[in-house]
Amino acid sequence: MEKIIDEKQQGNSLVMEPQSGNGKKLMIESYGCQMNFSDSEIVASILAKEGFNTTQSLEEADLVLINTCSIRDKAEQTVRKRLEKYNAVKKINPGMKVGVLGCMAERLKAKFLEEEKIVDLVVGPDAYKDLPNLINEVEEGRNAVNVILSKDETYGDISPVRLQSNGVSAFVSITRGCDNMCTFCVVPFTRGRERSRDPQSILEEVNDLAAKGFKEITLLGQNVDSYLWYGGGLKKDFKNASEIQKATATNFAGLLKLVAEAHPKMRIRFSTSNPQDMTLDVIETMAKYPNICRYIHLPVQSGSDRILKEMNRLHTRQEYFELIDNIRKLMPDCAISQDMITGFPTETEEDHQDTLSLMEYVKYDFGFMFAYSERPGTMAARKLEDDVPEKVKKRRLTEIVNLQQEHSHYRTKQFLGKTVEVLIEKESKKSNLHWSGRTTQNTVAVFPKENYKVGDFVNVKINDCTSATLIGEAVGYSENN
Ligand code: SAH
Ligand code: F3S
Repeated sequence: MEKIIDEKQQGNSLVMEPQSGNGKKLMIESYGCQMNFSDSEIVASILAKEGFNTTQSLEEADLVLINTCSIRDKAEQTVRKRLEKYNAVKKINPGMKVGVLGCMAERLKAKFLEEEKIVDLVVGPDAYKDLPNLINEVEEGRNAVNVILSKDETYGDISPVRLQSNGVSAFVSITRGCDNMCTFCVVPFTRGRERSRDPQSILEEVNDLAAKGFKEITLLGQNVDSYLWYGGGLKKDFKNASEIQKATATNFAGLLKLVAEAHPKMRIRFSTSNPQDMTLDVIETMAKYPNICRYIHLPVQSGSDRILKEMNRLHTRQEYFELIDNIRKLMPDCAISQDMITGFPTETEEDHQDTLSLMEYVKYDFGFMFAYSERPGTMAARKLEDDVPEKVKKRRLTEIVNLQQEHSHYRTKQFLGKTVEVLIEKESKKSNLHWSGRTTQNTVAVFPKENYKVGDFVNVKINDCTSATLIGEAVGYSENN
């Protein structure tokens, strides 16, 4: 599981295709959540229009942009380490300009320029369309900052440049921001108010991906279940506002239906669901369409009712169980994963035991687990003392990670002897003779390549497994191919 914990922290350098060169070389690095990687594709699209050529070499970059994460202190430290590296490179490449994007930019604002002398440009998540102007300012020798958050920016009109793409799976963002205000979380401060993107522009993006041969999309939002679009339609056709809303609104279940019906062969995933906002109609819609993947990432954070309340997670342990029961009733083969935090302020051993017993009930397929990290400005930081000793947080973390590993193994073992559909994504990391792909449950499966290729839907008979991976052999193309 350690590997999974690190996964969200890993950086990646990205390549983009410019439309015409302006002689300048750009490098973008992304850290943090899937939304950041998706945002970098929007930034790449905006700057491709400005004619930037890309490079993966810091030494030759004229402009380096780092898309940052603030979710835990460790994520911010990773970015600061990278800035040190940029500093070293600047000695060889003194003309290089450095821009900070994303959540740290939003959190620290102009303070960034003082704290990290290397930074020339600070741009928050809603201000990327202003990048061409801001870069001009920097080129004229001034530092530039735009951290204005927006109530309606969704970048719905920008067609993302797919970066480091396998040509098979892509992210499509559907909402931005978050209104939930979980007390530990910095996201509502760094990404602003929640807003939904026009379903028509979502559908157009999916159409475009399908035309380019993509086989799987992940609809992205901090809280996808609260997706709601009430635009469209002519006002004069309706008597009053509520009628307009009813007649034209699309909720998340409606959006899933729209995309699933438009592309019956496309695999559809989504992330992230918040238990308090996930309604029965979403589960029913999933159950109805086989191309909506049998997988729900359903973070719970804690199994203790008292801690859930302190976290402002607006559901109880019992309500969470009811949701899990409903999912299992309508889709017995649906995989479920969690995010969990150990050592939230005031968490006792008893609360921790509640988390372990909740995990026993659900037996999650995967999990992303973290020790609580106090984030400046959040309600928890203002109201509660960070009083669980680091050693205790870490010990509890190890306990839930170990339990998760047992459960993951229990889940993968259920596939032994079965034949499952796998969408091939890439070569296996461990062997160039094997393909790696995922099942509808999001479980990784590896098998000998034979004559199959990336992007094929293949039926794979599972003969062996670890806690994280299914191992098998292809028995033919699946009917989805
Ligand atoms: N809804 C979001 C959640 C973003 S944060 C999504 O799309 O995934 C991802 C996870 O980081 C959270 O579910 C939580 O488990 C963890 N996290 C958030 N703030 C944290 C903090 N202050 N300390 C430790 N973990 C945190
Ligand atoms: Fe953060 Fe809670 Fe929103 S974890 S992103 S405030 S749903």
